[in-house]
Amino acid sequence: MSAIVDRGALLSVEHLETHFSTRSGLVRAVDDVSFSVPRGGVLGLVGESGSGKSMTAYSIMRLLDAPGRIAGGRIMFKGQDLLALTDEQMRCLRGNRIAMIFQDPMMTLNPVLRIDTQMTETILAHRRVGRSAAREEARAALERVGISSPEQRLRAYPHQFSGGMRQRVAIAIAMLNRPDLIICDEPTTALDVTTQAQILGEMQALCRESGAALIWITHDLAVVAGLADEICVMRNGKIVESGSTARVLLEPQHPYTRQLLDAVPSRHRPGERLSAPSMQVDGRHA
Ligand SMILES: Nc1ncnc2c1ncn2[C@@H]1O[C@H](COP(=O)(O)OP(=O)(O)OP(=O)(O)O)[C@@H](O)[C@H]1O
Ligand SMILES: [Mg+2]
Repeated sequence: MSAIVDRGALLSVEHLETHFSTRSGLVRAVDDVSFSVPRGGVLGLVGESGSGKSMTAYSIMRLLDAPGRIAGGRIMFKGQDLLALTDEQMRCLRGNRIAMIFQDPMMTLNPVLRIDTQMTETILAHRRVGRSAAREEARAALERVGISSPEQRLRAYPHQFSGGMRQRVAIAIAMLNRPDLIICDEPTTALDVTTQAQILGEMQALCRESGAALIWITHDLAVVAGLADEICVMRNGKIVESGSTARVLLEPQHPYTRQLLDAVPSRHRPGERLSAPSMQVDGRHA
């Protein structure tokens, strides 16, 4: 189960602490967070705004900006502690073995570069292939994420795409080097409901096909209900509940998880709760 640290897992986050020193004091944005993700597994990281989901993701990617800093813990990925790597070693992993998809695709896309340039550079930065082979891979990647006339779209700039298409391009870029792990930080929240559902389905299919593990971050339990194998519920920087998706949805142990479930429109609710187990104040469940 996710909250138990599994050293054999693809990723295990162990007692992670991410702090911000602010004028009004120390903010524990991530406070003793532990979970693991097996190869090919899908983890939903759920919680309200400000609960620490993005800072957990940024910590794993080592993309925190000052005054944020990782104050403790370990992030084991394929047997090595990411926190012990040099910046250069981390750059080699990012966009290669681990990729992140942000809420705003322009975090990934460079507005002044054509899509083909951005895509081929992503490949060439990590692999020794010829430029034309890289371009062909880029074309195929656009096709896989449902972009029609990919050959023509390769020559376009990001502003020539709609929001949903831009996010698809960002997904295509994230998948280019067949990463072992993809972290999606609310990548569909800004999109209309139909596009959200399409992109979610496509992402799921792509990960299954490539064997990539996925961490899907959202404030919406309904989004991960059909996607994740396991769910971690975050609040105030802590994981208050974790477990298999069915267990968390059908038998939520923590009152906060129940609150999140109550916020889900009933048509999405996965069924009647089977029981209401006694509440545990510290909220930690194996
Ligand atoms: N630059 C900063 N300075 C101080 N504190 C910060 C800063 N950035 C984040 N934090 C703290 O980290 C906490 C967690 O932020 P985070 O962005 O991870 O939340 P989140 O769960 O991703 O929320 P959202 O759903 O709104 O994206 C915030 O509540 C805030 O207290
Ligand atoms: Mg966030």
